[in-house]
Amino acid sequence: MVSVHGVGALPISISGDPAEPKCLVYTVRSVGKATHALVSRKVGEELGVRGPFGRGWPLEAARGKDIVVVAGGIGLAPLRPLIYEVLQHRALYGRLVVLYGARSPREVLYPGELKAWARQPETQFLTTVDYGGLNWHGHVGVVTTLLKYARLQPSRSVAMICGPEIMMRFVTRDLEAQGMKREDIYVSMERNMKCGIGFCGHCQYGPHFICKDGPVFCYDQIRPLLDKYEL
Ligand SMILES: Cc1cc2nc3c(=O)[nH]c(=O)nc-3n(C[C@H](O)[C@H](O)[C@H](O)COP(=O)(O)OP(=O)(O)OC[C@H]3O[C@@H](n4cnc5c(N)ncnc54)[C@H](O)[C@@H]3O)c2cc1C
Ligand code: FES
Repeated sequence: MVSVHGVGALPISISGDPAEPKCLVYTVRSVGKATHALVSRKVGEELGVRGPFGRGWPLEAARGKDIVVVAGGIGLAPLRPLIYEVLQHRALYGRLVVLYGARSPREVLYPGELKAWARQPETQFLTTVDYGGLNWHGHVGVVTTLLKYARLQPSRSVAMICGPEIMMRFVTRDLEAQGMKREDIYVSMERNMKCGIGFCGHCQYGPHFICKDGPVFCYDQIRPLLDKYEL
């Protein structure tokens, strides 16, 4: 939970390299009052930080398996530490496939890193945008359209997904249709948060508190909830 004095606290994922724990890195998209206040802070001004809270990506479940990462928009930020971890410990994991969708080329996060990651062995990085424009020569379309290019062996893969809920609904459905087991699919859920420790109820999601039980859930665990619109 990152807080700006006088404005409020908001959940923001750590998006830096887990091998560099002394420096906390955040990637923030300014969408409203609190995020705007956060990105407007000047060097030297104070911020509050509490945490980390909740459950992150289950790396132990991914050991020895291929990993497919599917990210939409700012959803790539919470997945970046996982990508660093896999690339730094290549022998512990199988192939890494990253499918990333952004609204436009301007909104593609970490463009330099994406290029460098794509050159790593045993990896496949694909990016698509909703609206390309004249200078974009890559894929155009929603992130699920990349699935057909992914070199995946569904039965020996684990999926980690973060993005808008509507996108996660379609991605989980398509991965299941390709033969992935629900137990091998993990999604990161998002709700408004206040306390971050399962106390205030702001982040309740069915029987779960996202701050404490999540934000990362096994798809098998929350599928009936994810299928309900506007829950
Ligand atoms: C576990 C978790 C991790 C998160 N990690 C990050 C992160 O790493 N980086 C980051 O930038 N954000 C992250 N978020 C989202 C971030 O917390 C919200 O964007 C923030 O709380 C919005 O607060 P605000 O006061 O700026 O906007 P509000 O005033 O609450 O909202 C302003 C407008 O933006 C819309 N809005 C609010 N949140 C979002 C959103 N997430 N996406 C699109 N529209 C939105 C609202 O519907 C409203 O229309 C995370 C959220 C969760 C639950
Ligand atoms: S934020 Fe208070 S219960 Fe989750």
